[in-house]
Amino acid sequence: MRVRPHLLETPHSGIRRMADLASTIDDPIELAGGDPNFTTPGHIIAGAAERSSAGSTGYAPGEGFLELREAIVAKLGRVNGVTATPDEVCVTTGACGGLFTSIMLAVEPGSDMLVPDPGWSNYAAMIHVLGARAVPYPVDASTDWRLDAGAVEAAITPDTTALLLNSPGNPTGVVFDPADLVEVTEMATRRGIAVISDEAYDEVVFDREPFSVASQVRSDLLLSVYSFSKTYAMTGWRIGYVVGPADFVQELSLHQEPVVSSAATISMHAAAVALEGPQDCVGEMVAAYEERRNKAMALLDAEGIGYVRPGGSFFIMVDIRDSGLDSWSFATRLVEQHRVVIVPGLAFGQGGEGFVRVSLAAAPEAILEGLGRVAETLHELKDRDRAAV
Ligand SMILES: Cc1ncc(COP(=O)(O)O)c(C=O)c1O
Repeated sequence: MRVRPHLLETPHSGIRRMADLASTIDDPIELAGGDPNFTTPGHIIAGAAERSSAGSTGYAPGEGFLELREAIVAKLGRVNGVTATPDEVCVTTGACGGLFTSIMLAVEPGSDMLVPDPGWSNYAAMIHVLGARAVPYPVDASTDWRLDAGAVEAAITPDTTALLLNSPGNPTGVVFDPADLVEVTEMATRRGIAVISDEAYDEVVFDREPFSVASQVRSDLLLSVYSFSKTYAMTGWRIGYVVGPADFVQELSLHQEPVVSSAATISMHAAAVALEGPQDCVGEMVAAYEERRNKAMALLDAEGIGYVRPGGSFFIMVDIRDSGLDSWSFATRLVEQHRVVIVPGLAFGQGGEGFVRVSLAAAPEAILEGLGRVAETLHELKDRDRAAV
């Protein structure tokens, strides 16, 4: 079967490439993925099973059950400070599905979409598949990955139709300053550029309350994308949602129809139970991620290794510039010689070079063991370089 040649050039995720490499060795320490080591809380699984057993196993409306969209509206007010109505919400197959369909509606073939560099590699793949061009805007490690309105504006081309924001960020762990998010969103929408705000990790924040740019900027050009994957450890249920103007959301529902029809019925039930049930599980998991982050930072501090303090999400970017190796060589060496799977910063764009991404979604013992081996390797390489001078 012939594949459209354009799609043979899709930039696939470096995370997958590392996972493939890891599959060739025994007993790896897996710190590459963003899949929580928690299983979905029991009451969510039980609630979904109960509703299915009661007979709700058929197709769902394209935009999602009203009960779920109402629960999402309540959550948006409670957590994000965003006022919305159910017809401004479309349930999607994870944030992935919401991002893809939103980008499909917002970009034209041949147009440009701005993405953060470093940024989650799937953005570039989605944009490429849709025949548009991903144009990076820098977020710089030397400024703690700060969102700089000037740098974003400088990256705008005459063909730019959309801009992607991601906070809390993957791979950086950065939580952008609210004022910067507002400034960039206002600048872009004023220029007629659609803003897609990927907030898949909205509740996984450590040092401040969640912030959604839609709580301060109302614009027909602003979409916010959320997920149940990270907040409730529900990655495998493939369920998320997009919030935006009602007419756009209706198009979104219509345009996911030919591809997925709708998100899965059982997953919508699970999502409704997640939102309507007790929220202690969220606090407990976020506290666990925060503790892992703190332990990881303490280990790196004790070893004298650089990193940028993550404010949220599941990741910490470790500075490996002292190793004298590029990030792919460093990460490959870690797998082959130390059985630790991490992701080279370059997999997320040029701006990630000099760093490796370490996941905090794994068990704390694995994180500390893996980081210990990263530290050992860095020291070895540094000493070797010193000896060679
Ligand atoms: C930044 C970011 N956005 C979106 C997603 C996709 O989330 P979902 O599982 O809801 O599709 C991920 C998953 O890793 C992510 O890291």
